[in-house]
Order: sequence, then structure tokens, then C-alpha cells
Amino acid sequence: MNKRIAIRQMSAHVEQEVTLEGWLYTKTDKGRLQFLQVRDGTGICQAVVFKKNVSSEAFDHARKLTQESSLRVTGTVKADARAPGTPGGYELDVTDMEVVQIADEYPIQPKEHGVEFLIRNRHLWIRSARQWAVLRVRATVIRAIRDWLDDNGFLNVDTPILTPNAAEGTTTLFEIDFHGEPAYLAQTGQLYNEANIFAFGKVYCFGPTFRAEKSKTRRHLQEFWMVEPEIAFCDLNGLMEIEEQFVSYIVQRCLAENAEELKVLERNISSLERVAPSFPRIHYDEAVALLNRAAAAGESVPGYEDKVPHIEWGDDFGSPHETYIAAQFDKPVFVHHYPTQVKAFYMEPEPDRPQVCRSVDLLAPEGYGEISGGSERMAEVDKLTAGIKAHGLPMASYDWYIDLRRYGTVAHSGFGLGLERTVAWICGAAHLREVIAFPRILGSMRP
Ligand code: 4AD
Ligand code: MG
Repeated sequence: MNKRIAIRQMSAHVEQEVTLEGWLYTKTDKGRLQFLQVRDGTGICQAVVFKKNVSSEAFDHARKLTQESSLRVTGTVKADARAPGTPGGYELDVTDMEVVQIADEYPIQPKEHGVEFLIRNRHLWIRSARQWAVLRVRATVIRAIRDWLDDNGFLNVDTPILTPNAAEGTTTLFEIDFHGEPAYLAQTGQLYNEANIFAFGKVYCFGPTFRAEKSKTRRHLQEFWMVEPEIAFCDLNGLMEIEEQFVSYIVQRCLAENAEELKVLERNISSLERVAPSFPRIHYDEAVALLNRAAAAGESVPGYEDKVPHIEWGDDFGSPHETYIAAQFDKPVFVHHYPTQVKAFYMEPEPDRPQVCRSVDLLAPEGYGEISGGSERMAEVDKLTAGIKAHGLPMASYDWYIDLRRYGTVAHSGFGLGLERTVAWICGAAHLREVIAFPRILGSMRP
């Protein structure tokens, strides 16, 4: 009985006879030689079936294989493959093969398909090399997020998905019926995190998040994943220090663990290699000045047709603004102290200048825009109730949240990092729908 191994383990089995189980990715028929590209989920390997080395039955099977047929293939692992297309550099000299199923004609061909077609066939598209690579990087990002937080004193406390109130504005709520009472799918776990820090000091929640965004852009999903660390006794500066270490660690783990995947993605990694603390920090005022100088000079935004649009002080940035700002730096950049009027009700206003608040967004390079948003939180009862009123929110649903300011309140801060935005940036993916296995975007939730 031959040893069954994964393609990723082939380097440890050179010159040994092994069995791989997988699917036919592509095939080149050279008559007496069949070159099979076999994938098994861990990688792709070239299996060479030479007529004189196998039974006539096995050779017959090899010839009949269609794209995505499932199979078992046995042979000797060879290093230093002659075929330059062999990823990983190992090939299998086939001695036997068994067909599990001859697949029907597969709808996704190696040629180009429109993205609408691919999304409709997402259950099959995830088998393609690029999609495979992206979803493996995503898994690394998730591991890195958990490892860094777990190793740095944060406790994972899960927060509810069914919630009675809004936390990030009322325009993106998904309303559901909670036995006759309206409830909403969580836009954030933050408010509960704020309760949890008073029990545990430093916490994080990490889970699915829902926003009924009315716009269909490459940066917005209806359902996405967000990790939200929250820290007691921490101000805005302390928060930025944590964020830059955290984000740098995530990027460096991907470079270390996903070299093969990033190669499949043809990702230019030089800008990722520079991601290390500290990150540049600019005040919202400076960002506005920078943008309006560029607008006045008629500068264009990298990757966009348009010129840099003028911005009024007090407005939130659009994607072209974020892209232009990020392009001025060679690392992700923090923009802090946004106008209070464009941010959520819970952000601490600057005492000497309440028109701005202690908020910070992290903008990724290369047009990926805001990957995280965070702030110092209002720590006093009066300020908080004023904030809730100013946003027209129902005071009664926030009673427990206000309570947190009554029993040992402290300066505290937190942020939310969007998983898909982060993965898209690391992978160089054009659209967030490619970096989650089954995306939910405006007007599409199938499959
Ligand atoms: O800036 P946001 O809305 O912040 C919060 O929800 C805070 N409560 C977080 C906190 O302080 N604990 O969202 C945080 C991040 C954004 O920077 C972005 O990366 C991502 O979540 N995000 C989205 N990702 C995909 N699709 C959407 N519709 C997203 N909306 C936000
Ligand atoms: Mg935000």
C-alpha cells in the first residue's frame, strides 16, 4: 500500500513511491505521454503518465480524463522537474492511476470569463488557481490576527449578532423580526467590547458583520468579517501604536507563509515588505490641505481617470481622496481627528476643539483605502448622552452602554479592521468579492 500524501508534502518524499488524491486541472496530450496537472487543495503537481510505465488500462484512463475529473495517482516523486510550468518543482512519474469520476464538461475554461459568470459559478470558481491562492492568504490573515492578539494579552470574547440597536448609523441596518420586536444584524461588536474591557482589560471580537450598504462598489460587501480589539486605559496615540504593530505582523506573516500564493497572484511584494512600524500619521486638517493643493494643481489620482476632487473641510473622504492621500506615503498612513459630524456618536471630541474627534482611519497603499477605523471613546456620561441625542438615537436602548461610564469609567479606545479589505490589499485583488468564499453584495447572494 502506497503512502497517501498531499502535494505540499512532496519535497519530503523525493524518489519515494506515493499516492496523490485530487482533481485534473489541465492536461496536455502528447500521444504516448500524458502530462496531467493535478491539484489536491494544497497545491498543483505535474503527473507524467508514460505509456510504457503503466498498464494499458491505466493509460487509457489517463487519456479519457476531462477537466476536474477526480482521481488517485501513484508514482515516484521526482525533484528538479524538467517542465518549467511545474509549481513547487516536483513531479510525479506515474506508475498507476485510478479514476474516481470522469467529470461532466466543466463550465469554467482556462480562457477568460466575465466576472458576472464567474460569480454565478462561485461554487466552482473557488477551485481556480487565483481564487485558491486568495482564500489561502485569507486563512493566514485570520491565523495571524488571532495569534498576535492572543500573544499580546487580548482576550477573545464573542459579541452577539442579533442586536437591539444601531451602532454605526441607521442607514445600513438589516432589520429582522425578533419575535415581534425589531432587531438588527450586528454592524459591529464594539459596544459589547466596551462592556467586556471592564471585565478583562483588553479584548477582541472577530466575526461576521452586516451592512445594508446601498452602493455596489469594489470595496463594499453586505456581509464582511471584522476584528475589533478594544483596550482599557488607552488613548488615541496608544491605539495607533497597537494598530501599526498588529497590521505589520499580519502582512509579514503572509509574506513568510504565502510566498507561493502571492506568486500565483503575481503580487508585487516590494510595497508589502516595507510594512513595519511606525506608520506616518497626519491630521485631517493636513489631509484636506494636501488634497486641495493637489486639486488646485490639477493633479490626477493614481488608478483613476479623474483629477483629485476638491474637498470642503468637514466632509468625509471619497475613494479618490483616500487613494491620493495614501499614494503620498510608502506605507499605510493614519489619518486622525476627523470632523465629529462625519463620525459615529461614541467618539471622544477633542476637548479644546470639539469640531474634531479622537478618531483614526488607517489607509492602505495602492488604492485599497480605509482598512481600519477606530477611536478613543467618550468616557463621560454627559458627553455620551449628548452624543446619542445629537445623532437622534433612542436613549433607552443605550442605557446599559451609558452605565459603563458610571462604574469606574476610564479612557479607552478600539478599532475595527476589515478582514476583506486587508486581504484584498495583501493579495492585490481588484474587488472584495474575490476574497471571501461566498460574497454577499448588493443584488447578489447566490450561490
Ligand atoms: O469604520 P467602521 O464602520 O468602524 C466600526 O464599525 C467601529 N465600530 C470599529 C471599532 O472601532 N471597533 O468599520 C471598520 C472597518 C472599515 O475600516 C473597513 O475595513 C471595514 O470595517 N468595513 C467594510 N468592509 C467591507 N464591506 C463593508 N461594507 C464595510 N464597512 C466597513
Ligand atoms: Mg470607517
